[in-house]
Amino acid sequence: MKFEEIRAAEERLLLSTYERSPILFTGGEDVHLIDESGERYLDLLSGIGVNALGYNHPAIVDTIARQSRALIHTSNLYYHEGQAELAMRLTERTGLDRVFFANSGTEAWEGALKLARAYAGLRRSEGASIGTKFLALEQSFHGRTFGSVSTTFKAKYREPFGPVVPGVEFVRFNDVSDLRAKFSNEVCAILVEAIQGEGGVRPLTQEFLAEARALANSTGALLIVDEIQAGMGRTGKWCAYQHYGILPDVTTLAKPLAGGIPLGAVLCTEEVARVIHAGMHGTTFGGGPLACAVGVAIIDTIEKDGLLAHVNQVGNYFQERLRWLAKHHETIIDVRGKGLMLAAELDSADLAKQTVAEMLKRRILINCTSDTVLRFLPPYILERAHVDTAIDALDEIFTEHGAAHSTQAGGRHHG
Ligand SMILES: Cc1ncc(COP(=O)(O)O)c(C=O)c1O
Repeated sequence: MKFEEIRAAEERLLLSTYERSPILFTGGEDVHLIDESGERYLDLLSGIGVNALGYNHPAIVDTIARQSRALIHTSNLYYHEGQAELAMRLTERTGLDRVFFANSGTEAWEGALKLARAYAGLRRSEGASIGTKFLALEQSFHGRTFGSVSTTFKAKYREPFGPVVPGVEFVRFNDVSDLRAKFSNEVCAILVEAIQGEGGVRPLTQEFLAEARALANSTGALLIVDEIQAGMGRTGKWCAYQHYGILPDVTTLAKPLAGGIPLGAVLCTEEVARVIHAGMHGTTFGGGPLACAVGVAIIDTIEKDGLLAHVNQVGNYFQERLRWLAKHHETIIDVRGKGLMLAAELDSADLAKQTVAEMLKRRILINCTSDTVLRFLPPYILERAHVDTAIDALDEIFTEHGAAHSTQAGGRHHG
């Protein structure tokens, strides 16, 4: 089918959940996506933080070829080689003890929420006084299924589907006194992203995360850190909470975990894991042989190629260049992030939208989150030259915008 036919068929046949950009991608190589006419696009978004090794990476392609010939699916009724291999690597790198594999971010997060409620129930049966309430953060995003959307802040994601799961209260972002005021032994878990992704690439302060850990410890509530966007090396460490020196009781991973093959994971301590027994939770597809084999290959490649150090180096360079850009264009009001999870916040939602479109015209993919925040989640194999290409393009766009703006202002002034 030609692009226009595909577009017409989608409009007729699909639920209209997405506003797609009018491009048909048919391939990819390294940090580039390739459209139907062979044009190459520099991808600074990597499928919303998924394609950590970029496109057509031999480690992924070869693993998929080998594993798909051997075994794609068995269900969780039987053993295969992949889950133990991947769980060994994940527990070593996250500091947690046990893993449950799911298929997506939101499913991993559902697993974490269920674990928290079940664990609180176990503690109550052992005589502890602990409730069922969740404290989540303002601007949080945890996914689209019912539990996830109930703990996601933006009303537009929750309200059409009400009533959502009860027992969730939102705490003001990085507001330690609000956290203290809302915490009590009614709370079974505090839910955070160490660096909020969809909320605008906003890191928690050390003080806030430390207080969340201390409060949770004081009652036996759980600290649950969602690392679906920030985890698996994106910030230069395996998990963003490792920048804080704080270990949660539960964490969730997904996005880059199997480099584009759907896979999510919930990890927890041995103490929390004791609540789970056979039959309580499960999945048909989660942790299948294909996804797990790719997950193993991704971790091994990140380590073999020194990509955590690379993410730090190229990420620092990217951030420096964004700061340079901010000095020259006052429309940029903040630059933030860690590693290759970066953002430039603008003073105008219209300009942010326009900038994404202008970058697309220059064949560079970025996106805009939280209305005014330009977000960069490139593949870990990004090089400095790619950063320079992006910065030059942004410089040009903001310069043109500035010139148009001052002409308009001048026109108004003289008129
Ligand atoms: C922090 C965080 N949690 C959960 C999710 C949901 O993941 P998925 O879209 O794979 O369900 C996302 C997706 O953007 C996310 O960024």
